[in-house]
Amino acid sequence: MNPRTDNPAICPGFEPPRFAHVYNVGVWPDIDGFKECVKEIYQIFHPLAIIMSRHVDNHAKERGVGPNYQSIEKLVEESEVPLARTLAYHPKHDEHDEVCGLKNAQWHYDSRLWGSLINAQHMEDGKCVPTPPGTGLVYQDADGNIVYPDCSDEDILFHIGTNIDLLTAGIFKPACHAAVVPEVRSNYMRVQQAFEFAPKPNTVLSPPIAYDIPNVIPGDENRIIPQIGIRRNWTEGITYAQYQENMLDTYVKYTNVCYLEMKGTR
Ligand SMILES: [Fe+2]
Repeated sequence: MNPRTDNPAICPGFEPPRFAHVYNVGVWPDIDGFKECVKEIYQIFHPLAIIMSRHVDNHAKERGVGPNYQSIEKLVEESEVPLARTLAYHPKHDEHDEVCGLKNAQWHYDSRLWGSLINAQHMEDGKCVPTPPGTGLVYQDADGNIVYPDCSDEDILFHIGTNIDLLTAGIFKPACHAAVVPEVRSNYMRVQQAFEFAPKPNTVLSPPIAYDIPNVIPGDENRIIPQIGIRRNWTEGITYAQYQENMLDTYVKYTNVCYLEMKGTR
């Protein structure tokens, strides 16, 4: 769902199916007040994303990022294709595993410029319940160690996306993360509202310098998922849309084996 505009003319002539949900008229769930509420929350998140991007720009310039650096702030400010996603995670390996495109406890990087999240809500038998212990977002640090963030479900989170990695030539790295829900619990659902910020689909992505990072073999002992989609999926003159297509294809290939071991992680 595009929370910023329902104008299908924002990307004229541009129709790859994977972007239809953001460049076209949004398809919203038929829930009273839902669309208005999500659009209102987006009005808080968009300025926050701009401020976060400004900090990224300033720091990247301080680090001497290069003369043809593309301002992240400008990309976020001008983009009319943010994505609102209402994520729903169910207990591990049930028939709803793929409701939101990612499975419970599946490691991944956020792939756009930013992934931002409002606090999670936990539902059981249709009612809000307290946060189940041992659940929530978990991260891997640069060495593959599991890290539990010191934040509550009341906090707002911003995840650096792989596009910021590309455009800052690795000055800012995304963090590999997964959402964990209770292993055995019936009629449970973890719901979290996310807003993802992306360049316009026809934006040509120009990393400031030649940049690559090594791939990690999937399923290795640290269960680090490959840091994919950086240089390998980038070619001179590529648009964000094509780059994102390449990224998603690579993800599908690699992430099937990259699950968080549920036991002994917390
Ligand atoms: Fe994520």
